[in-house]
Amino acid sequence: MRSHTLSLLAVLILSPLVALALGWGAWWYAELLTRERIDSTASLHRVMRSEVVAGMQARAPATSSRALFSAYCAQCHGETGDGRGTQTLDRPARSFRDGGFSFGNTRDAIFRTISSGIGGTPMPGFSDSLSIGERTALAAYVQTLGPPALDISTEDMVLEVRDTPIVVRGHLPSLGEGLPEHPRGLLIGGIDGMTAEYRVDDVRLLAVRQGRFVERTDWSGRGGTPLKPLGPVINLVDGGDPPPGFEHEQALEARLVRTMIEDGRASVTYMLDPGGLQVLVEEWTEAITHAVGPGYARHFQFHNLDENRMPTLRLPGSDHRIIERIEGPARSWIVQEGTNGRIEIQGFESDSARVIEGEGNILRLQLPSSSEANISIVTLLPVSWNETLREQLRTGGAP
Ligand code: HEC
Repeated sequence: MRSHTLSLLAVLILSPLVALALGWGAWWYAELLTRERIDSTASLHRVMRSEVVAGMQARAPATSSRALFSAYCAQCHGETGDGRGTQTLDRPARSFRDGGFSFGNTRDAIFRTISSGIGGTPMPGFSDSLSIGERTALAAYVQTLGPPALDISTEDMVLEVRDTPIVVRGHLPSLGEGLPEHPRGLLIGGIDGMTAEYRVDDVRLLAVRQGRFVERTDWSGRGGTPLKPLGPVINLVDGGDPPPGFEHEQALEARLVRTMIEDGRASVTYMLDPGGLQVLVEEWTEAITHAVGPGYARHFQFHNLDENRMPTLRLPGSDHRIIERIEGPARSWIVQEGTNGRIEIQGFESDSARVIEGEGNILRLQLPSSSEANISIVTLLPVSWNETLREQLRTGGAP
């Protein structure tokens, strides 16, 4: 009798527990199944992404990148990326929806455009105002706005710069009407998306490009392979046919000594002739952003074997009309207007060189005589010239 009551009690107490345990088990099992399903969908997405292309799935983009886009980009590119923003521009911003990118449509290329901006256009650089993570997120977001990218395996001839600069030599096409081809050309593609285009014989910088690097029309050839640079020209240096850059009593010719890739940058080294003066110059180009707008810097490092005689360095484009000269906190700036009406601003460290004025607006920089000297010439390419920019150069920052 007693044991009867006990077992009844046990049943009464245990059965809800058993039910509970069973219920939990079922829930856990169901949960496991869904989780597996989510996992396999995720890996399917990964496969799709790597095999086909990013941007194919209509994934809802993370709110944070959309918010960043609204805050920093939409006023020019439009909320939907259709290029119709609220800000009036004298040159329309790009519509991302049709996918026509002149500066490259890979995530890396878009990241670089966002970081350095596009000289000579209203597209600003964001390397100071947005973190690397934010710019990466924005690059991915911009890709999702366009149509799915096509598989570009057909473009085997295209050489892309990734984590180290690339130097190629070959036949370069003409840079424009009336400008010659260069059978011996040199292209230096930097990891910042800038390409410096030189002719080899006198090592003169002809143009600076931005965007994708180069297509080789013929891989089988050795020297003289025709090259097709892909990035648009953002600046034709001295109209694409520069005079000698260095002078010491007479114009000095440069002779290529070597090209070198080191610490993520590629440089050219040349010897200045004629003999007597023995100066080795190492030169490299780098994208920069300034409050005034995007541009690039040319760095020159002089190794002077004859300390008493230092050549002068001609300021690029200085036969253009000089609009104004401005002393900034660290740099002197020369604002010039080219023959095509484009504004080109050249700046150099004011304490490392003295300006020598020559005939016809030609400005030369005299560096102090010593065995080693450095100077950087910054070229900024704003859309137009105005009081705000003047103030930014004078103060070295935002107004
Ligand atoms: C002040 C206006 C303005 C703002 C702000 C702006 N852009 Fe632009 N952007 C432009 C213009 C104009 C162009 C087209 C330049 C040209 O003519 O090649 C452009 C071009 C681009 C390109 C290059 C497309 C190509 O052809 O390869 C990308 C990428 C881009 N913008 C992304 C962005 C992103 C991302 C932001 C926000 C972080 C942004 N832009 C903010 C004006 C702007």
